[in-house]
Amino acid sequence: MSAKNNTGSRAVFVTRFGALAATVGSAVGLGNIWRFPYEAGTHGGGAFIIFYIAFVFMLGIPVLCAEFFMGRATRSNVFGAYRKLAPGKPWYLAGYIGISASLLILSFYSVVAGWTLEYFSMSITGNLDFTGSAEGHSRFVELTTGWMPVVWTVLFLLCNFFILIGGVTKGIERMSNISMPILFFILLALCINSFFLPGLKEGLTFLFKPDFSKITSGVIISALGQAFFSLSLGLGCMMTYASYFNDRNRLGRTAVSTALLDTMVAILAGIIIFPAVFTYGVSPQAGPTLVFEVLPAIFYRLPAGDLWSALFFLLLFIASITSTVSMSEISITYFCEEKKMSRRRATVVSSLLGLCGGILCALSFGPLSDITIFGMTFFNLFDYFSSNICLPLGGMICSIFVGNFVDRRLLRRQFTDDGSHPFKALHLLVFTLRWICPAAIFIIFLNSTGII
Ligand code: TRP
Repeated sequence: MSAKNNTGSRAVFVTRFGALAATVGSAVGLGNIWRFPYEAGTHGGGAFIIFYIAFVFMLGIPVLCAEFFMGRATRSNVFGAYRKLAPGKPWYLAGYIGISASLLILSFYSVVAGWTLEYFSMSITGNLDFTGSAEGHSRFVELTTGWMPVVWTVLFLLCNFFILIGGVTKGIERMSNISMPILFFILLALCINSFFLPGLKEGLTFLFKPDFSKITSGVIISALGQAFFSLSLGLGCMMTYASYFNDRNRLGRTAVSTALLDTMVAILAGIIIFPAVFTYGVSPQAGPTLVFEVLPAIFYRLPAGDLWSALFFLLLFIASITSTVSMSEISITYFCEEKKMSRRRATVVSSLLGLCGGILCALSFGPLSDITIFGMTFFNLFDYFSSNICLPLGGMICSIFVGNFVDRRLLRRQFTDDGSHPFKALHLLVFTLRWICPAAIFIIFLNSTGII
């Protein structure tokens, strides 16, 4: 599926489908299946979800378009993209947010992906036999508090490393083409299963009936962070992937399809988790551990549950890899193109940085749980700081940049593939990028600091 074309030595996704599979592979991951339910749970359910969906469509799609534009127009890493479009201006400094935040995300993400590996191994050995919430909780605590999570995190990062060494456009594209549809099918099956649980009504009410009294500044900033996190936005990840798009890839369409599919998977995950939460008496507020306590209880009661759970955690692991590969690409392309490292060396450097952060996060539930900064463990701090601050900030900069400082003709050329098809929404897009996105993000920031 990969080839070199007129872009010189850079790889490209040859087909439109391959490019979509890769961007969806980046977007769909633990963010949808692990982070979305726990964020929705801790922030009151329905009210959070309304904001989340509004942000995906109002801010997420435009910023996704802006990132796609910058990547494909310049065929560069984040720094190079800003520099080519605005030579001699300091915009490229935004690249530092991208590199550092992507490494922070890689750190805690690998720990959770390590849990999926551990759950996979327990499923195939028949040990994932948590029957109810209390047990689920204590077993989970047992699994995550010692040194074992470090082993699983390292194992996950090694898998990530070997795929990255092989190049993105080959392995990853093929893997997402197969695994994404199967994962989607299993999610649908689990969703149907939810409709037979006694907690169905309570779960769906929690999920879809907004309780506006629960809306606080914390809910709004977290919904924004989740929308950006889930769409892999704000750090230049989608920009980097778009730098591998071919010249006929319709940017607007790819952006809308990616956002729709990603949001659908998140909502499916919610429909799977919350009826079970109320059926098995788990607190929706359980936090990052929520999904890992609830899922085993669901699988335990299914016929051939071990098989289902093995398949599910294997696919979740693959979905995580397709996401970590994309976030690693941000720093790898930077080291390759800006620091002139070989791809192998760049991959070693970013994996080692991810490893250092990963170990801190892996120990956050056990030996390092007492070390807190701003009242948060390393794991929670990395998650909060990168998702709720860096992603919206990076997205705001990209949006202001593309909305104000890019030649309109260049934008039109990119969005119409050199005039080969119409793109009616260009004015709306530029208006949104220029005014709506920066203003909305700015107000949400002020609101979350208590100034408004
Ligand atoms: N979107 C992915 C998920 O939902 C995570 C992810 C991949 C990401 N690349 C990113 C998040 C870049 C922020 C920035 O699991």
